[in-house]
Amino acid sequence: MIVPSGEMAVCSRGPEVLEAYLGTCVGVALWDREAQVGGLFHALLAEPLGGSPPAEPLRYAATGLPLFLNALEEKGARVPRLEAAVAGGAIVGPSDDVQLDLQLGARTLERIELFLRATRIPVKLSETGGTFTCCLRLHCLDWTPEIVPVGSHFFRPAASSDIPKPDRTAVESAVAQVKPIPQIAFKILSLLRSETYQMGEISREIRLDQVLAAKVLALCNSPIYGAPEKIESLDRALVFLGERRILQIALSVFLSGIFPSKPGGYSLCKGGLFQHAVTTALIAEFLARRLNMAQGRAYTYGLLHDIGKVVLDQLVTEKAPLFYRQALQNNRPLNEIERELFGMDHSEVGTLLVQHWNLPVDIADAVSGHHNAEAPLLKAAPEEVALITLADFIANRFLGGTHMERLDQTPVIAALRRCGLSAEKLEKVIADMPLAQVRQQASGF
Ligand SMILES: [Fe+2]
Ligand SMILES: [Fe+2]
Repeated sequence: MIVPSGEMAVCSRGPEVLEAYLGTCVGVALWDREAQVGGLFHALLAEPLGGSPPAEPLRYAATGLPLFLNALEEKGARVPRLEAAVAGGAIVGPSDDVQLDLQLGARTLERIELFLRATRIPVKLSETGGTFTCCLRLHCLDWTPEIVPVGSHFFRPAASSDIPKPDRTAVESAVAQVKPIPQIAFKILSLLRSETYQMGEISREIRLDQVLAAKVLALCNSPIYGAPEKIESLDRALVFLGERRILQIALSVFLSGIFPSKPGGYSLCKGGLFQHAVTTALIAEFLARRLNMAQGRAYTYGLLHDIGKVVLDQLVTEKAPLFYRQALQNNRPLNEIERELFGMDHSEVGTLLVQHWNLPVDIADAVSGHHNAEAPLLKAAPEEVALITLADFIANRFLGGTHMERLDQTPVIAALRRCGLSAEKLEKVIADMPLAQVRQQASGF
């Protein structure tokens, strides 16, 4: 069972394995062997901002830990018998960057360590402050904790040390083989980009595409959107959800077919790469709303930002031992490893694919610049590229575990400055983010 950020789970002895995927968040597992009770708490931030009691106390270490302890005690656990495992708390920026004190993970971790010291709960296992997402597990059958880097379950030692590397030509021909995107998706993209949602012709076309219409209606009727009654026609869906949301759903449905569905490669779970795309798109839209930027564009860029990974995914799957070994054993950003193995990183491959699809140049900018601190300075819409860098960062650090990523921190700091966000403001934005909704929507396709 996965315990998402800002939540906790408490269990009695049994075959259940509790898991939390942790980047900047911090996970705490506590267990009492005598009472045969244990649990896992996944804290997002250190403490609520502004002093008033938070609406969701489990988001914060300061307010969530007492609740977690209460829940364990209610099931029979006693504090003097508890043992702990702690993981996560990845750092964000260079620690000497005084202007942007972004040590969100370090502060959450500090809170948790203070609490464990004050309650005299011994820490049996701990791995904190790294740069890569890890998974904290608690096996409820024998109360064994475990901390593993994400992707390690795909790691197989290479049979031979000289696995041939695919070269640039192989990557380019893989790009050329990706099927073109349908005309209707193209039209939806340009409506979303121009922020004019005159659907007329598009809704006719969606209606004609029965598979698409059915999928859009099924999504509208899923609990995610909370429709008060069953929506049976596209017209009703338009009234209920609005045109922008319908266009976003339709575009996401189209693109979902292009993303790999099986785990392996970049996906750490079924559809993981696509879930990351939708998560980033929704967070980018949320950030755009907060910063008074174009929401339709932000969603589109977010959805497409890692599209290069769709191409590299096939090559990664073939060269898996080499890829995972490099990714897990080297403390380097993933795009550096990609350049070494494939001659190009996923931003470059994505840009080629966007050009192959004849998509507009601003989309190519967002794809090519999302990991590049310098790029936003050169582009026509630098804030929008920076917004995607931030949305990607938040998706990876606070809603991680669906796909393989290890970010270079430098562009994040530059992107914050470009969007005019201070560390405090960013913390406020993260605290206000509708995480559960984002998760639900991203896994709803
Ligand atoms: Fe990326
Ligand atoms: Fe990404």
